Amino acid sequence: MEIKRIGVIGAGQMGNGIAHVMALAGYEVLLTDISEDALSAAVSLVSKNLDRQVSKDRISADEKQAAMDRISTTLKLPDLGGTDLVIEAATERETVKQAIFEDLVPHLQPHTILTSNTSSISITRLASRTDRPEKFMGFHFMNPVPVMQLVELIRGIATDEPTYKACLAVVESLGKSAASAEDFPAFIVNRILIPMINEAVYTLYEGVGSVKSIDTSMKLGANHPMGPLELADFIGLDTCLAIMNVLHDGLADTKYRPCPLLVKYVEAGWLGRKTQRGFYDYR
Ligand code: CAA
Repeated sequence: MEIKRIGVIGAGQMGNGIAHVMALAGYEVLLTDISEDALSAAVSLVSKNLDRQVSKDRISADEKQAAMDRISTTLKLPDLGGTDLVIEAATERETVKQAIFEDLVPHLQPHTILTSNTSSISITRLASRTDRPEKFMGFHFMNPVPVMQLVELIRGIATDEPTYKACLAVVESLGKSAASAEDFPAFIVNRILIPMINEAVYTLYEGVGSVKSIDTSMKLGANHPMGPLELADFIGLDTCLAIMNVLHDGLADTKYRPCPLLVKYVEAGWLGRKTQRGFYDYR
């Protein structure tokens, strides 16, 4: 099946990056959100991030303009009914995602593939609330989307092979690489990455090292591009905690216990870069 039109739900950090790479690869993109402000902020951010690529001669000014022309926005979820592939990148809360799928499904064409960019929620469970579990899968981009090479493709228990192959072809058309993951809590990247970040927070909590020494150790000692606490601020401490909770609940193993200091930061509203304060102060 040929995919030409892509619907993206949610104009936040991930949604605008997904719109960016899809439009640049030649797909018609329809981006939706519940807030007009979020939509216009996302379009400006895509333009700014495309400008970075133009300034580095990665793309031409004409390619940028063509990509911008392929992005349209709507506040009406049913408008996504005419798309071939939908990627949901709304808030990482299962009830929110389920409500979106329930509202959207009656408007979809029979062939449309539904996917979620969830970083940890069960694909099988999300799929079970739709009319097309065999045409449903996880399509998980990494942040920042225009830069990171990987997309995790997660099959739910019912996902069929044509759906997987169609999604794989889309990933390859973006010039990115796919890793196939089974549907278990947090899949592959976050099953490994977020416990590492949680352990870094324990290292801070127990006084083994300061924020700076923990991050410097992992940057210079393990060649990570960002230290784990800097990365936690980048991802969002609420997202890190939500993923630890999915691992803890889903795998019932105390090794996934969220660090109390991570919980305290989230309770304080210190969520990282997006609130200007996390392990670092961005004010
Ligand atoms: N759009 C377009 N280009 C961007 C960009 C964006 N949003 N952000 C950065 N770039 C580009 C820059 O223009 C630059 O391009 P060139 O290589 O062509 O010069 C390149 O990316 C590097 O950027 P910078 O020089 O500004 O900064 P940097 O060298 O410090 O790299 C980084 C920034 C790419 C974010 C790097 O620090 C990094 O790789 N960090 C780790 C990111 C990571 O681990 N992401 C995964 C998070 S986990 C996740 O996403 C899963 C989940 O579900 C939670």
